[in-house]
Amino acid sequence: MSTSLQPADSATRVAQHRRYLMCAPRHFTVSYTINPWMEPRNPTDTAKAMEQWQTLYDTYVALGHDVELIDPVEGLPDMVYTANGGFVVDGRALGVRFRVDERRGEERPFMDWFARNGFEVVEPVSVQEGEGDFLLVGDTILAGTGFRSASDSHREVAEVFGREVVSLRLVDPRFYHLDTAISVLDPVEGPSTLSGTGGVEKANIAYLPGAFDEASRAILRERYPDAIEVSDADGAVFGLNSASDGYNVFISPRATGFEQQLRDRGYNPVLIDLSELLLGGGGIKCCTLELRGK
Ligand code: ARG
Repeated sequence: MSTSLQPADSATRVAQHRRYLMCAPRHFTVSYTINPWMEPRNPTDTAKAMEQWQTLYDTYVALGHDVELIDPVEGLPDMVYTANGGFVVDGRALGVRFRVDERRGEERPFMDWFARNGFEVVEPVSVQEGEGDFLLVGDTILAGTGFRSASDSHREVAEVFGREVVSLRLVDPRFYHLDTAISVLDPVEGPSTLSGTGGVEKANIAYLPGAFDEASRAILRERYPDAIEVSDADGAVFGLNSASDGYNVFISPRATGFEQQLRDRGYNPVLIDLSELLLGGGGIKCCTLELRGK
């Protein structure tokens, strides 16, 4: 863990414009179990899911971000989790090839949406679940495996995007996608966007050490010495399933320790409660796919 609460760059955080893809949870329910959070016997409240989701949408828009929408499809209750719809970098969209049969019906609608909206679509060969398991940190792609995405997909994503890919193994079934265990705080690496500082801000992450095997933990410690390590309690409320624009970090209000850690580093935590969508095993990040243009 970092010993300094105020790294030199903490005063220079600037919100960067984002473009996201979301899908209204109009058909949201829990009718099957494909992760430990899902219990079909527990009732779900679709109206409440819609309301909570709308708050996330409105908050992104109010902060100046662009949010695109894909039409929800009846019978695909998990389509609200758009992070799994693909992985989009440099205007190129790698489609999703779900491990779980229950979600395979989403593959075509997402690829069609990318094509209609001017993205170059790459049809996937290996099993992988999009931005649920691929996270762009600076120029590097962190790629998760262990539960959903197959490790061959890591080679495929490296070829498709021509970037360094670092494989990480998830070991706790509650954190079955990489975006439930790592939060990318500064997605853009390079010169600071604030003039006058002359500094270079490196992309940083927050993560839950217990979600990874020992080899992956060692990689994370080495590559991100300033990372925020979150507590098990904050991880367990999906605190890491968050989006960031480099200044505003959209997190669950239950992740109170993480909230304070973010403040200490000069970020602005924005609290959004998606408790209803957590019944499907997803949170803020799961409902947010980043669309990165050329
Ligand atoms: N019920 C969905 C599933 O198990 C939740 C997906 C969460 N998405 C994510 N990016 N972690 O596939």
